Amino acid sequence: MDKTELEAKAFDDQIRERMKHGHIPDLREVKPCDYFYNNPWRRPELVQLDMVESFQLILKSIQSYSKNSSKDTKVLEVGCGPGYMSLELARHQYQVTGLDVSSACIELARNLSENDPHRDNKDNLRYFMGNFTNPDIFKGEKFDVILFFGSLHHFPKQSHVMEKIKHILNSEGLVVVHEPARDRYNEGNVALSHLVRTLLSATDSFYKESAVPSGKELNQELEALMAELKYEDDSGVSVQSENDNEAGFDEMYSALNKNFTELHFEDRYAFFHEIIGGIRLDDKKTFQLARYLRDMDALLCKKGIVKATEFFYIGRK
Ligand SMILES: C[S@@+](CC[C@H](N)C(=O)[O-])C[C@H]1O[C@@H](n2cnc3c(N)ncnc32)[C@H](O)[C@@H]1O
Repeated sequence: MDKTELEAKAFDDQIRERMKHGHIPDLREVKPCDYFYNNPWRRPELVQLDMVESFQLILKSIQSYSKNSSKDTKVLEVGCGPGYMSLELARHQYQVTGLDVSSACIELARNLSENDPHRDNKDNLRYFMGNFTNPDIFKGEKFDVILFFGSLHHFPKQSHVMEKIKHILNSEGLVVVHEPARDRYNEGNVALSHLVRTLLSATDSFYKESAVPSGKELNQELEALMAELKYEDDSGVSVQSENDNEAGFDEMYSALNKNFTELHFEDRYAFFHEIIGGIRLDDKKTFQLARYLRDMDALLCKKGIVKATEFFYIGRK
């Protein structure tokens, strides 16, 4: 198998496993799912705080920078996974195409779209299985907006992706990017995450029970947490999929700026996303604490106290 096939297989396996356990990747129809032990998909309220808030930022930005109404705007989402962002854009009347290399993700995305109770017209959303950098994909077709939500960092050659975007984006079209940049985790971020996790764990409020570490163990603990947050194993290899973390912040951001005119850049969050799904208080307290962590995270990023490990970018061709 080549790297793209391995990538597709990792996401096929992941979504099949999630579906077996009742996962519904739909921002409006999501149900509680205990299969997720430290992921916001565990509870709809956590999805609201995390993915829905990101969707609202994406929607608001497209609305303010796009020159046409949603009905006249063709959006392509690259690496759409099971399609929850594409689906939500279609519910806001955009003409949406979702693309992913994972056939299982595309099959589920089509299913959710066909049975969507929130849209009468099902014709404004279509999905394709394929590799975005394949020259034959979307040959002769153009889009007004191209969105990457957590997928641009999976492309090893950013210059190839940028060329492809420019090729199929209408003039004055928008490129919209919401990405993790796990290479930006620094010691301060990790120490703060460790502190929050240890306090939660010591009060039996975190998914992971762990003994409060002694001073001697601290450095080792911080190193292990750094690797976990970067989704790496002991040798530094990506653990989620073949191409995870292929591009870091500088590669993505410089490639975007070289090819597009920046309209808006925003540092997002540093740590809350990797913690809130792991909180084990009663639901009310869990959601209050999750909201507090998210808001504190945003504030600390804004003040430069921790380094954001997620960013949002919107540029024009
Ligand atoms: C981290 S997942 C994010 C998926 C989705 N956006 C979400 O938020 O759940 C990255 C996605 O990019 C897809 N992907 C990776 N390389 C790709 C490529 N060359 N062409 C199209 N999709 C790709 C993967 O199959 C995977 O579904």
